Parts: sequence; C-alpha cells; structure tokens
Amino acid sequence: MAEQSYEVVLLPGDGIGREIAVQARRVLERVERGTKARFSVQEIPCGGQYFLEHGRDWPEGSEERCARADVILLGAVGWPSPSGKGPVMMPNGHMAGYSAVLGNRSRLDLYANIRPVKLYEGVQHRISGRHQQVWQPADVDMVFVRENTEGLYAGMGGTLSPGGRTTLATDVRVITRAASERVIRMAFEISKRRNGAPKDKRRRVTVLVKDNVLDGCRLFREVFDEIGRDYPEIEKDVAIVDAFTQWLIGQPEYYDVVVSTNMFGDIVTDLASVLQGGMGLSVGCNVGDRHAMFEPIHGSAPKHAGQDKANPMAMILATREALRWLGERKNDTALIRGGDAIEAAVRAVLTAGKTLTYDLVGTERAAKMSETTDAILKELEGRL
Ligand code: IPM
Ligand code: MG
Repeated sequence: MAEQSYEVVLLPGDGIGREIAVQARRVLERVERGTKARFSVQEIPCGGQYFLEHGRDWPEGSEERCARADVILLGAVGWPSPSGKGPVMMPNGHMAGYSAVLGNRSRLDLYANIRPVKLYEGVQHRISGRHQQVWQPADVDMVFVRENTEGLYAGMGGTLSPGGRTTLATDVRVITRAASERVIRMAFEISKRRNGAPKDKRRRVTVLVKDNVLDGCRLFREVFDEIGRDYPEIEKDVAIVDAFTQWLIGQPEYYDVVVSTNMFGDIVTDLASVLQGGMGLSVGCNVGDRHAMFEPIHGSAPKHAGQDKANPMAMILATREALRWLGERKNDTALIRGGDAIEAAVRAVLTAGKTLTYDLVGTERAAKMSETTDAILKELEGRL
C-alpha cells in the first residue's frame, strides 16, 4: 500500500490533558518510526484554561478541522473557575471545554461511546485496594456501549429564574427509536466479534434500563428485544440499572457487552473502571459512522497537573483504539499492527511492574508520567 499520511487532530485540553497529549504524540512518533504509518498531528488548544485567555473554548474553525480529521484524540477538559465556584463556565451556560467533548459528540454524530473494561495482568483492581486481589484478570473483560448523543444529554431543558434567582430547572431525557437502534445494533456487533463473557464464554449483551418506571427505558428495551432477534446466537440479558451496579462488582465475569442510555452509561462506566485498576487505565471511544474521537475517561485533574505524575496509560490505550479504528476503516494493516503493538507494550510494562505511576503503585514506588511512557516506548521498539 502506498504511504499515506493520516490527519490526527489532537485536543489536549486542560490540566493533565495537556501532559498526556504529549505522551500520545511520543507514541505516535514511535509508531511512525517502526511502521509505514504516517501521521500529520494537528493540535487544537481547547478547554477552560483556553477560555480564560481567549474568551472562547477553542479557536474559530475548530469544528471544521475536527470534521476533516481522519481521527481525533482528546486529552481532558475542565478547569476550576477563578471564582472558586466549580469549573469555568461559558456565558451560554456550558462548561468551558464543552465544544471539544459534548460538542464533537453531537456535531460529528459520534453515537456510541465504547468503553472496554479489562483487568490487565499485573494490575490490582481498586476494590478496597489494600486487601487481597478479589478479581483476577481472567474475570474482568467486558465492553460498555453507551448511547452518546441524546438521553439526559440532549440539551433539552431550561431554567426559570424570576428576579435572577433560579427556582426551577429541567433536563428532558430524550430517547429515540433511531438512536437506540444504532447503538444497540453496535453492541450486538461488538459481542459477535468477541469471545463471550469470562464466566462461561457465552456471547451476551446486557441492556441497562429502569423500565419498571421510565417510558424512555421501555422504548430502549423494546428496541433491544427487536434488534436482538437478528442475533439468535447471542444471549440477551436485561438488567435494572440500580441492581446492575451490585452485580457488576459482585460478578463481573458474567458480563460480555453492556449497552445503555447516555447518563446511565456515564455513571456505571466510572464504577466499572474500579474493576480495571481505576481511571488511569480507562478508555472511551466515541464512534460514529464517519468520525471517531478517542479519549481517556478521566478528567483534567487540576490538582495533579504540571507534575509529570499522572498515569499516561489511558491516553496511550486511547491512541491504540484510535489506530485500530482507523486501520479497520482504511484497511491499513500498518495501523492495526501499530495499535496492537501499543497494547502489547502497555501490557508488558504493567506485568513488569517496575515503571508505574502513583495511582497503580502508591507514591513511594511511583514512576513519573514521562518515565512510564519511556518504558512503553522501549517495549514498543521490538514489537513494531
Ligand atoms: C465522560 C465525562 C463527560 C460525560 C463529561 C466530561 C461531559 O464524564 O466522558 O464520561 O459526562 O460524558
Ligand atoms: Mg463520565
């Protein structure tokens, strides 16, 4: 195949987002050196810190640049307001950084937020981390598919503020048949390509609902039942979302693919990250039919910013997912091989256990962010 350069838009964002973005670039450069893959990385500043300096949360024209990119990588957005009251907000009532995250998700129609939850060898899950390992890596290997464009994030709602004081606020939860269908179909397609749940190797899609109470969930479940008929070989599992939270922690090995509406998915995937060693390892893939944006699911962690200490692995694994998505889309094996090598390198560093950040091994034994990336790059060398 002729050498092709892919346009990667990198949105570093705020706080540790800016530092992990540097690590992602280093990984991409190494992949370029070891394969035929070529990237033209274009950084677009964005977020709360950018807003404080420029009065907008990213430069003019960024929407179009994101739409033109082959793939987008996002660090993290959100910065504390100088007033001390929550994050920097924009006059339109959105958090500064909205354009890069929620804006891109809806503008580019990134309708599925795919979040793999896998406990790697050498990682301690974070359920009461001081005690013995309850769950083994073999028990935790599932994928969440979260609807990413509507639900409680539809942006329908508002406030009543007589005399300038808000007395009423609404957020309307929007569930449409069309958005439910495509995300549920994607969940079944993902299950089809996997090897089933760790417990019994059965392919299983679990739908999260509160259909004993909510109309939107009844529609979501109805669509699930309909689409499920196209996949007779895959087991269908319905879980009421509140009860699911206990089963998730109590029997993670039962889950293969889990599909949910937007807000439920937001909440349960943070909980699920506990099973895989925390947010330092958790990735979110925002995927549509034509565009995709990959990010760690952690935030900008202002408290830890600028200290070269945060875990770069979530961002590096997000980069891995980006290469896989792009490689499959473009039928480019160099990208797929590059992505696989990144995952193998991260695994090797985790198993060796020598160069890990504070979130995984505590502050006394902690390596710096850049040292962890150095170790990953070294492991990458022989694998490309
Ligand atoms: C996530 C985050 C976002 C969300 C925020 C930053 C808007 O929590 O990706 O899970 O709520 O979706
Ligand atoms: Mg979240």
